[in-house]
Amino acid sequence: MNLPTINELSKEIANLISAGEVVERPSSVVKELVENAIDANASIIKVELINSGIKKINVLDNGFGMTKDQIPVAIKPHATSKIKTSKDLFNIATLGFRGEALPSIQSVSKMRISSCTDGVNGYFYQYKSSDLVDEGVTSMPIGTKVEVENLFFNTPARLKHLSTESVELSHITTLINRIALANPTIQFILINNNKLIYQTDGSGDIISLMGQTYGLDVAKSLIKFENKNDLYHIKGYTTTNNVYRSNKNYINIIINNRIIRNLNILFAVTDAYKSIIPVGKYPITILEIECDPSLIDVNVHPTKLEIRFTDELILREMITSTIGKALYHTELVYEAKEKDIKKEIPVIDENPYVTVIKEDEPEIIKEESIETLWDEFDEGNVFPDLEDAEDNFDDDEEYDDDENDEDDDNAFELEIETKVEVQKVEFQESIFDTLTYIGQYHKTYLLFDGGAELYLIDQHAAMERCMYEKIRKSFEKESNQSYELLVPIKLEFSVSEIPLINEKEHELNKLGIKFEPFGGTTIIVREIPLWIPKNLEIEFINDIINHLINNQNVSKSVMYESLAKKLSCKKSIKANTSILDSEVNELLNNLKQCQMPYTCPHGRPTLVKISTYEIEKIFKRVI
Ligand SMILES: Nc1ncnc2c1ncn2[C@@H]1O[C@H](COP(=O)(O)OP(=O)(O)OP(=O)(O)O)[C@@H](O)[C@H]1O
Ligand SMILES: [Mg+2]
Repeated sequence: MNLPTINELSKEIANLISAGEVVERPSSVVKELVENAIDANASIIKVELINSGIKKINVLDNGFGMTKDQIPVAIKPHATSKIKTSKDLFNIATLGFRGEALPSIQSVSKMRISSCTDGVNGYFYQYKSSDLVDEGVTSMPIGTKVEVENLFFNTPARLKHLSTESVELSHITTLINRIALANPTIQFILINNNKLIYQTDGSGDIISLMGQTYGLDVAKSLIKFENKNDLYHIKGYTTTNNVYRSNKNYINIIINNRIIRNLNILFAVTDAYKSIIPVGKYPITILEIECDPSLIDVNVHPTKLEIRFTDELILREMITSTIGKALYHTELVYEAKEKDIKKEIPVIDENPYVTVIKEDEPEIIKEESIETLWDEFDEGNVFPDLEDAEDNFDDDEEYDDDENDEDDDNAFELEIETKVEVQKVEFQESIFDTLTYIGQYHKTYLLFDGGAELYLIDQHAAMERCMYEKIRKSFEKESNQSYELLVPIKLEFSVSEIPLINEKEHELNKLGIKFEPFGGTTIIVREIPLWIPKNLEIEFINDIINHLINNQNVSKSVMYESLAKKLSCKKSIKANTSILDSEVNELLNNLKQCQMPYTCPHGRPTLVKISTYEIEKIFKRVI
């Protein structure tokens, strides 16, 4: 057999190979060029596209520029001004460092780089793939302009994979939105086919930037959070539980001005919203993490979107508890507006795309683009397994009260027990104390006069919240108060379940359930916890035991959380049931004592207010 000869690949082929990883679509080019501009200390970055970048991408900046001699060096593979030694690789303070973006882009396009460092000696080089086709002096201010034309002209397979222009534009718009949020003091301008698509003012004001990016409703509902430990400083803004979206694309994670994706950090944010926001809904968040660059490893993937953190679990806990505290200290009564009453659903779920500064009619962005945002951001689905896990985690949770709410797929989450420590907050009392009961409507809603507002309580949701918190608290106790049953309960299980139950004896004892085998497939329960409602003893004990033995693989906190949700729903008064005034009083009192009285454990509002002004608008008393 003839042994194959080992050849060194030519520079061109090596560039094409790394282009395959770095340049997937027009937005990847924009990302690399904009990041270069940020690294060059630009304060204004303008991105001009023709046909959503498929035909042409120009990125202009007012950064420090490059000299005539440096430009040809910049397009060489592994040429970078950002790191020098291997030590620098573990202390990266710039967005780029791999020295492969420009040669990669150059190898799959017709590229022209013009740059100037003094406002006088501007110079340009023009390439067609790796061939230099033109060069010369050019007059331009200090900064750099990179023009990329006919992307993928020499790689037809890539070209064929591009989506429609509107989808490609949505990828770029989302990307610039995120980069702008990470760099609020830089002014960004995005233009497509001579139309202004998005612009920021570079003022550094995050709230107005969030407004410019996600709309006024979002900006108005933002709450601030901040915390630090020895390693990390976290800060940012996140929406209250009244404004949310159906996907996670609005959770922006930024570390040292770099936008990243990290599933565990994302979970840390969404964990803070558990039982506050409906299942399958996500907040709009900007989370900034600052730390010493040596604590993170950016060199995980060519796109530099994935990061490894030192002490990630501690960071994750800090994020969940900080955002949780901020939420629990905010009045989260859902405020119904006339437009919601017309729409009937209190869910704000508009198109995610930016405040478009319109010159003409805005382009209609197709549904498919919304779905693909993270895919694009992912650029190659770096952690497909985790992605799958995450999807399961989302989809299988039931929104229906009475249905199975097992949360089995939460097993994929890292086993961490993050508790949001909450103190009672004064304003909660004040709301409940101002309410005067008017009556029950539709045998489901309790109406209250709150002075300037009409309040509606969903009796089932409110009762569920009270019961849920009671059960959660009892689960957290070291030992539960129990009482001995006058008539012990006999419960039947299968032969295979009996050993599993015996294995859980200690845990069941801790919960206040004392039992002993009764021979065969029967156990006899002699003591049960005090909190179990009368007449529901058998059902509750059965549920608890079954839940414990069937959720062996999930973390305790996840298991208890789903059990509490399930049990709370059983006990709570259903809709379509009359309620006595004394029961209303008791419910209101119990709700007032809750740590989170504003939502049911599934995240739906318990309490909704409609201002007199909104009511007057309905009656056309005011305009
Ligand atoms: N807009 C710009 N202004 C000034 N210098 C630039 C600009 N773009 C690129 N450069 C110079 O060219 C070099 C090569 O850029 P390139 O993007 O290929 O690599 P990098 O940014 O160093 O690393 P990475 O591949 O991770 O992006 C940079 O290190 C920088 O010195
Ligand atoms: Mg770069």
